[in-house]
Amino acid sequence: MTPSAKPPVNIKPASGKLGILTPGLGAVATTFIAGVESIRRGQSKPVGSLTQMATIRLGKRTDNRAPLIKDFVPLTKLEDIVFGAWDPIPDDAYTAAKKAGVLEPQHLEPLKDFLSQIKPMPAVFDQKYVTRLVGTNVKTGKNKRDLAEQLRQDIRDFKKASGCERVVAVWCGSTEIFIKPSAVHQSLAAFEAAMEADHEDIAPSMLYAWACIMEDVPYNNGAPNLAVDTPALLELANARGVPVSGKDFKTGQTWMKTIIAPGLKARMLGLAGWYSTNILGNRDGEVLDDPASFKTKEESKLSVLHTILQPEKYPDLYKDFSHVVRINYYPPRGDNKEGWDNIDIVGWMGYPMQIKVNFLCRDSILAAPIVLDLALFSDFAHRAGMKGIQEWLSFYYKSPMAAAGLEPEHDLFIQQTKLKNTLRHLMGEDQITHLGLEYYA
Ligand SMILES: NC(=O)c1ccc[n+]([C@@H]2O[C@H](COP(=O)([O-])OP(=O)(O)OC[C@H]3O[C@@H](n4cnc5c(N)ncnc54)[C@H](O)[C@@H]3O)[C@@H](O)[C@H]2O)c1
Repeated sequence: MTPSAKPPVNIKPASGKLGILTPGLGAVATTFIAGVESIRRGQSKPVGSLTQMATIRLGKRTDNRAPLIKDFVPLTKLEDIVFGAWDPIPDDAYTAAKKAGVLEPQHLEPLKDFLSQIKPMPAVFDQKYVTRLVGTNVKTGKNKRDLAEQLRQDIRDFKKASGCERVVAVWCGSTEIFIKPSAVHQSLAAFEAAMEADHEDIAPSMLYAWACIMEDVPYNNGAPNLAVDTPALLELANARGVPVSGKDFKTGQTWMKTIIAPGLKARMLGLAGWYSTNILGNRDGEVLDDPASFKTKEESKLSVLHTILQPEKYPDLYKDFSHVVRINYYPPRGDNKEGWDNIDIVGWMGYPMQIKVNFLCRDSILAAPIVLDLALFSDFAHRAGMKGIQEWLSFYYKSPMAAAGLEPEHDLFIQQTKLKNTLRHLMGEDQITHLGLEYYA
């Protein structure tokens, strides 16, 4: 610790096992679980995970202190993780991974014994909210509150059966239809009354969020669903001292946007339009083929450029740029998405230029390390006494949650600085400002 740094906050140790529960045991969740087990067996490296691979600079550049984040911050070790899930499709993790087709047999088959043991608990699911799916492994109850109480019982049973000390949740379930915040989301009292009354604005993802917070389980939202991003559930999270984060993993095209757009803005280059289109053929693509689910995704994807480029502040550069996002369900591609971006930019004296990006990515391969980091960081945040929205985890999301009245931060590099500075702050180290004048005094 440098002399000007504050003492670290009181952080409970990462003792015992950590349970990671995923509502949804599809492509992302199974790729995540398989990957963690493969790493534990020494067969893979945790590529793409900050918690496992990134270093963090501490103090002055001349101090030469740059430990791995996992050696600096008390995170749960991979060996201490246990997995559980809910899914309306009864396939165990091996069968689900095989169907998802992300991992090749040479990686999947050696993990068969391990993955076959992970069987999804019956889900709270209603086809009304994910129209393209048919679920058979589904709970029944007298109303939505009753269903949410059953989820709470599942969490308690899972904790007992797996012997874990703490639990976190990362939503890896499907994208639900678009729901606008309404009166039932404005306060906890209204939300709970609406659960009893089976109100249609209460989607399954919200019931998971409520149940998790009630059980002191940090809830991280990998889909664009409203879920925990309502005044009602934030009230509950703050009251119970539970961290929450969301929304929508930032993996392919949007991740690229949050790299390129800050670059254009940094150089004060204009934007006339950005056209993004994708083909993908996994189950997520099928769900997003429904216009109501796509609307939820579209809202999440469209907000990024406006927030980064701030057209109201820079009308000469960014007023009225055109932004189009398309997702096309194309089965032959499976999880191996292909995205094309055409970016019409404007330079000196108004001369037009174009940037083309052709990204052949693997959606779940990009998302899996995000699930791991969110699980480990949100558990750490909980042990450090953090609660409510974890803005420092915006780095991982397309549509980051922010306090009421605050613009979310979308710029990937500001998000990264925020993340690392939060770790430094919690551990009692100096913030890094990059001023650097001290080296030239
Ligand atoms: N892969 C990525 O790059 C990426 C990026 C951003 C967001 N996401 C989001 O992550 C989520 C998972 O993606 P995926 O590719 O694994 O999709 P997937 O379709 O393979 O898996 C989703 C699973 O969720 C289950 N599910 C649906 N409703 C549920 C409910 N109410 N409770 C529990 N389970 C439920 C489905 O049965 C399915 O098995 C999607 O919402 C997707 O939009 C993925």
